[in-house]
Amino acid sequence: MRTRRDFIERVAAYGGSATAAMLALDLLAPASASPPLDLEGSGNGTRVVILGAGVAGLCAAYELGKAGYLCTVLEARSRAGGRVWTVRTGDRHVESDGTSQIAAFADGTYLNPGPARVPQHHVTMDYYREFGIAVEQFGNVNLNAYYHSTAAPPEMQRIRVREAEYAMNGYTSELLAKAVSQSALDTPLTRDDKAKLLDYLSATGGLNKRYEYVNRGAAGYRELPAAGDQAGVPADPYDLMSLVRGGFFAPEREIDQQPTMFQPVGGIDALPRAFATRLRGRIHYNAAVTAIRKTPDGVRIAYTNAQGSPMAIEAAYCICTIPLPVLRKIPADFSPAFAASMNRVTYMDSAKIGLAFKRRFWEEDDRIMSGISRTDQTITQIWYPSYGYFGRGGVLTGAYATGKNARTIGDLAPRDREALALREGSVIHPQYADEFMSSFSVAWQKTPHNMGAWVAWTDDTRKSDYPVLSQPDGRIYLAGEHMSYINAWQAGALESARDVVRRLHARVRAA
Ligand code: FAD
Ligand code: ALA
Repeated sequence: MRTRRDFIERVAAYGGSATAAMLALDLLAPASASPPLDLEGSGNGTRVVILGAGVAGLCAAYELGKAGYLCTVLEARSRAGGRVWTVRTGDRHVESDGTSQIAAFADGTYLNPGPARVPQHHVTMDYYREFGIAVEQFGNVNLNAYYHSTAAPPEMQRIRVREAEYAMNGYTSELLAKAVSQSALDTPLTRDDKAKLLDYLSATGGLNKRYEYVNRGAAGYRELPAAGDQAGVPADPYDLMSLVRGGFFAPEREIDQQPTMFQPVGGIDALPRAFATRLRGRIHYNAAVTAIRKTPDGVRIAYTNAQGSPMAIEAAYCICTIPLPVLRKIPADFSPAFAASMNRVTYMDSAKIGLAFKRRFWEEDDRIMSGISRTDQTITQIWYPSYGYFGRGGVLTGAYATGKNARTIGDLAPRDREALALREGSVIHPQYADEFMSSFSVAWQKTPHNMGAWVAWTDDTRKSDYPVLSQPDGRIYLAGEHMSYINAWQAGALESARDVVRRLHARVRAA
């Protein structure tokens, strides 16, 4: 920022407070990527038709509504939320091949087959706050959960996450500390730097005076400390190469997966429900868009209503949030360049299998309260619920897979998915056999109105096609998770909606 004018403009953009002045001066790093959406002036009843009532469409309708626009949302499903979906007992899911399932879960338990966790810095949290949605912590990382690997030696195929984490960190610290202490590293370290680095490695890596990794207890105990003569016996560490070969490392390091994470109390669908309540009367459900046409002064959208009758609606602008695998099959007046870009973008496959159990054996027997176990089997992950602790039963996410593993799961009939989840999960939790009640699975690549889990931009398509799709095609704007840099997160959908709302409003005001 160079001029006084820049400064004033930036303070205004951040909302005009003392904190805003500091943000504008770059004295505070912004904690959220989303600038405030203070739209100046009114849309004066300009009609906007929004395709899709996922969180992108809902957010656009809600924010434009606040700014005086007249929005109508067309949604193919009978509910709002799209991928933001909570499955409770009695809910039905029919996949594109016609296989049908009905959830049979105990009251108060549920499965979030799509999104389930929210990082603190996402704009999603701002909407939870705005709508008074109660949140609770989501245990993404639990060091007491398991790593399971068929590639590890038999005696260590299932180990606690902490055993792997501390040992991997300890051994790599040991290697580096020895290299530093023997001056084996050709680095610009001064003597003082070396001493400080060695102190750091010893403290964080759990090293002894000879810079060897020793488990003093942080990596777990063979016998836990208690009272009397039970002082505790730390477990012997597994050796480095077995850990490396087992592939015992988790991806929960990226910024969006770091603790502490959150979830709305009662199910992830609290947000779309809150939006939908505020948009009552503006959302048409069971309204599947069948054609997107440009008119001289706007758009004309054809759709079928709940009775299957053909309908149409006209508006000055359209915000289309329909996921691309679905959108590219809908007849539309997109320009050839726009349509070509849409066709090049690929999507990720992903599947989850929910398993309902009579008893919370993971809590009672394994002492795992929330968190994730990982395995190199097809099921990939087991998620333990971050709610309902000490309850009688519960729903585990018994598989959460992407890519090839998701396709393997998706290609199976629901009953065979269940058998796979039970077979593979039993290796980690032998209690499965006695405690199982029912399953419910969702393969997103076979889920109507989505036909994919989330966008998978490549370096090439991000460069060649994202810029094309980011610009409106006439009066049609694309919004949604795919039109952002926060793919596979609700925040991407919300930020994209807010971005389009901002640009659309500027255009209407300028017209
Ligand atoms: P959608 O939710 O897909 O909404 C599009 C809407 O368009 C749908 O309601 C659909 O029914 C409708 N539609 C489609 N076709 C038509 C038609 N012809 N006519 C009318 N309407 C139509 N995010 C997180 O924040 N945390 C997570 O932990 C997380 N985990 C995820 C795990 C999985 C397995 C998946 C699949 C997603 C996950 N996400 C997560 C991402 C998040 O779900 C998405 O980024 C977000 O929900 C996308 O919102 P959207 O509005 O862009 O799209
Ligand atoms: N955002 C997705 C998840 O949290 C990938 O699982």
